[in-house]
Amino acid sequence: MIIIRTKADLRRLTEGWRRAGETIGVVPTMGALHAGHLSLVEAACAATDRVIVTLFVNPRQFNNPADLAKYPRTEESDGEKLKPYGADILYVPDGAQMYPEGFATTVSVTGVSDGLCGAARPGHFDGVATVVTKLLLQTDADQAFFGEKDYQQLQVVRRLAEDLDLKTRIIGCPTIREGDGLAMSSRNLRLDGNARAVAPVVREALSRAADSICDGIPIAIVLQDTRARLTDAGLGEIDYLELRGDPDLAILSTADRPARIFVAAWLDGVRLIDNIPVPVTSPQARHLETAG
Ligand code: PAF
Repeated sequence: MIIIRTKADLRRLTEGWRRAGETIGVVPTMGALHAGHLSLVEAACAATDRVIVTLFVNPRQFNNPADLAKYPRTEESDGEKLKPYGADILYVPDGAQMYPEGFATTVSVTGVSDGLCGAARPGHFDGVATVVTKLLLQTDADQAFFGEKDYQQLQVVRRLAEDLDLKTRIIGCPTIREGDGLAMSSRNLRLDGNARAVAPVVREALSRAADSICDGIPIAIVLQDTRARLTDAGLGEIDYLELRGDPDLAILSTADRPARIFVAAWLDGVRLIDNIPVPVTSPQARHLETAG
């Protein structure tokens, strides 16, 4: 695997691959790689001839400067972690490569970016959509791999790829979890011992909520109980806890079609997000499921 830092060097390589008739996969990351990212790299290596992992801590998607400053930057160990996986390039552009002087374009996706992280982090998805569009074009990728942990991000990227007629197929890959259920995230590195011990309650509370919804308990009650469970366990502010339709992410008050339950909550200064699917429960939907 080689490290490339400029668009020009990247293009020389991708053009060579294209001439040889090879397909290209990309795994966009902001570094601090963990098993979740590595599972995306594995999926990419299985699906395409050539794989580019990108590493760029994108300032435009951070609405909080302190969060950007604290974001882990671990290029050397990221490179080491990638070695066994067979990626061809680690692409590490700097700010000037991505946003040269005079840069004035924003990709903004409406609808799926409303609410959830879009409401809690104003401007976040404009930053994500802009950088992902650039990375898909710079890498000339046939397929791009994103984790379902950032499910809203995945839907935003799917939308922009479709709307902008990009050739890249967007592939969603399952959330990878620690043994105790905590969704893997680069931010987990910032949890101290006590907070780390509490963090698995997030997934546990979501699973119970999904079970309760399937048992027919009204959504409002389930969400209220789940909030109480999280705050009793020591979680701080809850940015959101919501049931949303899948894949449109419309707010649901009944689980009568495919849905997911989404949470973002603070623990010891770290913002944890997670989501899980909720099986369809209405009698009519059950009928449709059996018929299908
Ligand atoms: O999920 C991330 O790490 C980032 O949002 C992404 C997709 C690499 C864009 O900066």
